[in-house]
Amino acid sequence: MEKKIAVLSGDGIGPEVMIEAIKVLKKIEEKFGHSFQLTEANIGGAGIDNEGKALPEKTIEVCEEADAVLFGSVGGPKWENLPPNEQPERGALLPLRKHFNLYANLRPAKIFNGLQAASPLRADIVGDGFDFLVVRELTGGAYFGEKGSDETSAWDLMKYSVSEIERIVRVAFQSAKTRASATGKTAKVCSVDKANVLSSSVLWRKVTNEIHQSEFPEIELEHLYVDNAAMQLLTRPRDFDVIVTENLFGDILSDESAQISGSIGMLASASLSDGGFGLYEPSGGSAPDIQGMGIANPIAQILSLSLLLQHSFGLTDEAKAIENAIQSVLDDGLRTGDIMSDGMKKVGTVEMGDAICEKI
Ligand code: IPM
Ligand code: MN
Repeated sequence: MEKKIAVLSGDGIGPEVMIEAIKVLKKIEEKFGHSFQLTEANIGGAGIDNEGKALPEKTIEVCEEADAVLFGSVGGPKWENLPPNEQPERGALLPLRKHFNLYANLRPAKIFNGLQAASPLRADIVGDGFDFLVVRELTGGAYFGEKGSDETSAWDLMKYSVSEIERIVRVAFQSAKTRASATGKTAKVCSVDKANVLSSSVLWRKVTNEIHQSEFPEIELEHLYVDNAAMQLLTRPRDFDVIVTENLFGDILSDESAQISGSIGMLASASLSDGGFGLYEPSGGSAPDIQGMGIANPIAQILSLSLLLQHSFGLTDEAKAIENAIQSVLDDGLRTGDIMSDGMKKVGTVEMGDAICEKI
């Protein structure tokens, strides 16, 4: 297979962990006989420093010409005093999501075998681990609704159309179906809203029920209010399979999910539009405090690559080979600092990347 990938490493630990992901990609190319054309472009602080803005036009062009985008992370103290709309996060990430219509954000929350102790939850709650998926709506709600302010107030409109809800809950039901066929477990979707207070949530729940009944009646569906969902995730994480929710709730619940999974250094995410195009990034951010120290965990970036191969290119075996290599390295006892525990071997970013490559 021949494909084009835009590589946006960004700031902080982004470039260091990206190098490891690209090493893994080269290994996959070799082993499975593919040819990927990589084009790098500036984003975030790197965009501001080199081209004067967080999301340079050239970067958009590079992404438009690519079949998928592998994204590192953006932001850092250097750019924190810029006006909010020019900062790396708001100036690059949000416009990219909107421009490419990346409305479906998939954030897997999974505890790898052997990392159960890294979760802050009690051992009896974690059991032998959990594995669920947060499907977050990414281009609507309060993030992109009408905004305004006057002398005494400010507002963000949380608005959803029927079609915006339909398309995201379809992604959730479809993901549950695909997951169930891979694991043999029951397909379950939990839709999270605040229908006891918000009109947009009343519509969300109604549309979710309609899509469920007309298109996916075989899938188990439950509804939770977002405050309750935040609690249930801490007390019964193993009961969840696919969680679907609007943008702001998803932002919050996906961080909670990441935290209970152990290290944010292990979590990847996919932001998808229709037709296979997607942007893939680690959930952890740019971690400027450990930049350049060679200790960042590259696994989230490498797993983001695995999601890219699976969702944008349909390369399921290749994606699986990466996941298996990671599990196997963990089985050998290798750990970066963020997931270190007694009796394990502490390694740095490069050693971890090399060990994963060797297993592929
Ligand atoms: C995320 C981040 C972003 C968001 C920020 C950086 C704009 O927190 O991807 O979850 O709020 O969506
Ligand atoms: Mn977030």
